Amino acid sequence: MLPPPIVRIRPGRPADADAIARVYVESWRSAYAGLIPNGVLVRMSTSAQAREWTQQLSRHSHADAVLVADIPGAGIVGFGSCGTARRSQLSHAGEIFTLYVAPEHQERGIGRALLYRLFDRLTDRGLDSALVWVLALNPARFFYEAMGGRRIAAKQERLWNTTLPQIAYGWDDLRLLRSDDRGPSD
Ligand SMILES: CC(C)(COP(=O)(O)OP(=O)(O)OC[C@H]1O[C@@H](n2cnc3c(N)ncnc32)[C@H](O)[C@@H]1OP(=O)(O)O)[C@@H](O)C(=O)NCCC(=O)NCCS
Repeated sequence: MLPPPIVRIRPGRPADADAIARVYVESWRSAYAGLIPNGVLVRMSTSAQAREWTQQLSRHSHADAVLVADIPGAGIVGFGSCGTARRSQLSHAGEIFTLYVAPEHQERGIGRALLYRLFDRLTDRGLDSALVWVLALNPARFFYEAMGGRRIAAKQERLWNTTLPQIAYGWDDLRLLRSDDRGPSD
């Protein structure tokens, strides 16, 4: 395995939208092939995603945050976003909305570094618990289990004319996770 890279975790800026869009589309095609309809993956466009991320990164929201993992010389290799939880039936206050590491940079501690910094952003905003929704068949759910997430809910979502089982993982007290154990240097 390669040694841990020097990674800078920093807030995303509108100028990062193209790089975020590339990681997003690449990660979706790699992670979701066979889980969601092929046509959705084929039709994904980096330029359309870049427009969406430009808008999201230009919004100055107190609650939401987008963080990127930046490797000198390689650029943005991962990103994640978080904010106030969208589904009020669950008691967890914050939510991880997205977390993606480019396939060639996975398994090097970057996902963990991003997740812990997203947790920090949530606690900074007074959101002391968090959840994430993940496709039940996505092996990424084992990453969330490795990060201490507890299975707290399940749902069937109807999307793209198909039914997608999803699982929510929760962390009850993020303040306990404010530690130095953040993977590669940032
Ligand atoms: C899930 C994801 C963000 C993890 O990022 P990563 O950089 O590969 O993970 P890390 O290297 O930080 O892993 C941290 C720990 O979790 C473990 N881990 C990572 N992915 C795992 C998996 N799929 N199954 C089991 N364990 C996993 C690692 O082995 C490591 O364990 P260690 O502490 O014993 O060393 C990344 O694989 C990814 O982007 N996947 C595709 C997109 C996706 O599905 N995102 C989630 C959407 S909800």
